[in-house]
Amino acid sequence: MRHKPIKSKLFSENRKRLTAQMAPKALAVVNANDVLPTNADGTLPMQPNADLFFLSGIEQEESILVLFPDAADEKQREILFVREPNEHLQIWEGYKHSKPDARKISGIKNVQWLSEFPVIFRSLMCEAESAYLNSNEYKRAHVEVETRDVRFIKQCQADFPLHTYRRLAPLLHELRVVKTDLEIELLKEAVDITAKGFRRTLRFVKPGVAEYEVEAELAREFIKRRGKFAYTPIVAAGKNNCVLHYLQNDQVCKKGQLLLMDVASSYANYNADLTRTIPVSGKFTRRQKKVYNAVLNVLRASIAGAVVGKLHKDWQKEAQAHTNEELLKLGLLKPAQVKKQDPDNPACRKYFMHGLGHPLGLDVHDVGDLNVPFQPGTVLTVEPGIYLPDEGFGVRLEDDIVVTEDGPVNLMAKVPIEADEIESIMNR
Ligand code: GLY
Ligand code: MN
Ligand code: MN
Repeated sequence: MRHKPIKSKLFSENRKRLTAQMAPKALAVVNANDVLPTNADGTLPMQPNADLFFLSGIEQEESILVLFPDAADEKQREILFVREPNEHLQIWEGYKHSKPDARKISGIKNVQWLSEFPVIFRSLMCEAESAYLNSNEYKRAHVEVETRDVRFIKQCQADFPLHTYRRLAPLLHELRVVKTDLEIELLKEAVDITAKGFRRTLRFVKPGVAEYEVEAELAREFIKRRGKFAYTPIVAAGKNNCVLHYLQNDQVCKKGQLLLMDVASSYANYNADLTRTIPVSGKFTRRQKKVYNAVLNVLRASIAGAVVGKLHKDWQKEAQAHTNEELLKLGLLKPAQVKKQDPDNPACRKYFMHGLGHPLGLDVHDVGDLNVPFQPGTVLTVEPGIYLPDEGFGVRLEDDIVVTEDGPVNLMAKVPIEADEIESIMNR
């Protein structure tokens, strides 16, 4: 792994938070993600399982975590299973965790080889009354492949048909949406790497550079700082500013266009999520600047409005009302349109059609129930936009914030955002 060692306290705290929520005499199991195949004998880079990482710091394939807080034998309350390293693995894949390494990373004393799992798990199940098993319960997820966790659920239900099975996902969602201080430190590192990448693009972008060349500059900065793209980067010039999920990054940036970059780094599996929109030639036109400042006004007000106790849907409504006002000032909406708008489909949606923000963490669109009011430690993106395909440009700005008792803290406060500051850096 490229990140520096992480204090195992981060993971042991999370295990403590989870086991405090579990029913008596219940155990919980979390599996690693599968290594997915390419078309032939290749494999895709493995995406570490976010829940397994959250609870153990383990990223290695085929690992299994079992938590059984009421186990009679104290040694069986936390067990981590990892692949046993062997000569063949060493030759082809290199390093795999030894038991002492896995102990050090996770803070779990009882580390076993994976081959021991069936026997140990059977004895634990005979002692347990119920089992929390994990599955992807993200509302908008569309999963066509059978994950390791899903195969495990089927196997468990076949082997132990009379146990009570419980859903682990709601407990984990509730915990993961509130970040601990140690998690926020890692998010800050991701933001810091992202900021350095963005500053690099300010010196690099000019008419004639291709979108993929900008992507390459960002990759260089992220990777050399132990990061990697948190999601497929969007580097979109001109009218492609308005394509919300633009991924081609194959056009050349032209004079007079804006370049929208929705690009960020992750660090130690924690993701930043940044969007900036900059003028390709280093100077906004008057119209571009007006629209830019309208979006910036909504961003700033929305950051200020992300306070403890607020509901996501009210936060979004406030931003939509504010965007309506800005669109009136820009002459893009007429007062009558706002007056007769459907409150569930406000007039601004013609120009600002996506959500205002989302929880951020080990997943970019992180887990967490949006019907629960913001709590201290909630990390959110704030990403208003105004898209004007008829005028050949659009603007989105996106910062990451932490909701605290003392108000919102902008993790991206140091990433240039004022139009004048962007112009002055680009023209240095
Ligand atoms: N980069 C993905 C998003 O902004 O939600
Ligand atoms: Mn983004
Ligand atoms: Mn986002």
